Amino acid sequence: MKQDCNLPIGVFDSGIGGLTVVRQLKRVMPREDFVYLGDTARVPYGTKSPETVIRFACEDTQFLVQEGVKAVVVACNTASAWAIPTLERSFDVPVFGVILPGARAALEKSETGRIGIIGTTSTIRSQAYVKAILARDDEVRVVARACPLLVPLVEEGWVQHDVARTVLKEYLAPLLKQKIDALVLGCTHYPLLKPLIAEVVGKGVKLVDSAEACAEDVHERLGALKLLATRRRRDGVFLPFVTDEVERFNELSQRFLGFPAERAVLVTLSPWDRRRKGQHLSDFLMR
Ligand code: DGL
Repeated sequence: MKQDCNLPIGVFDSGIGGLTVVRQLKRVMPREDFVYLGDTARVPYGTKSPETVIRFACEDTQFLVQEGVKAVVVACNTASAWAIPTLERSFDVPVFGVILPGARAALEKSETGRIGIIGTTSTIRSQAYVKAILARDDEVRVVARACPLLVPLVEEGWVQHDVARTVLKEYLAPLLKQKIDALVLGCTHYPLLKPLIAEVVGKGVKLVDSAEACAEDVHERLGALKLLATRRRRDGVFLPFVTDEVERFNELSQRFLGFPAERAVLVTLSPWDRRRKGQHLSDFLMR
């Protein structure tokens, strides 16, 4: 089914981190409208099983599709790592993720063919980045490491803190030992740690921002599908939805997004809540 090119682009993440991807999408496509869903009620995805991540990703996508988006960007690395094939099979809209663009960017940036990947426990367990890189060049060497402490550190705002520096040194030591010359930031939160990561890895290691690579890929592929907005307006609209705690989102969003966001709207994805509403109605009708 051909979508209307002037509909918004849907973006979802497990929570607030996906705003780093929105930031890059807006940089590349300032005129597009974006509808964002942060599943803050069920964050983190990075510690959950593949089955659960896939189910959540389907529910998130369904919400966005019902909102009437022309395409869906899976900003969450963990959801991208596990759910893209299921989403492509299950929905009619084009689906874009962060893994393939990040993998391609790593291969472009690395000169020695020694590439490091960092991400959540679930992303690393999926081996999605490793497989995507090796599928394009099986001569490179890829070392991956889960860094579960980084997401809470970023949300705490400790992006220049000594604790974060110590944690990064510990996580990155084995990768540096393998003499990587490119490091994929395979998680929505890591772009906020870029200055500290750059300091820890030193000049010889190039950082690969999967959010940046994803935004460029979405732009190119929407163009090829003739789905870039054609209406004349200077700035697109950004509409955020969350599944929990609007206040926390509103507090943190600017740091991830780089500009002040609209206030988020609280929504529920739970079939139970929807059923409960239905029950109230039928109870009423039966009286
Ligand atoms: N958004 C997730 C990712 O990029 C990080 C937070 C989480 O674990 O849900 O993998």
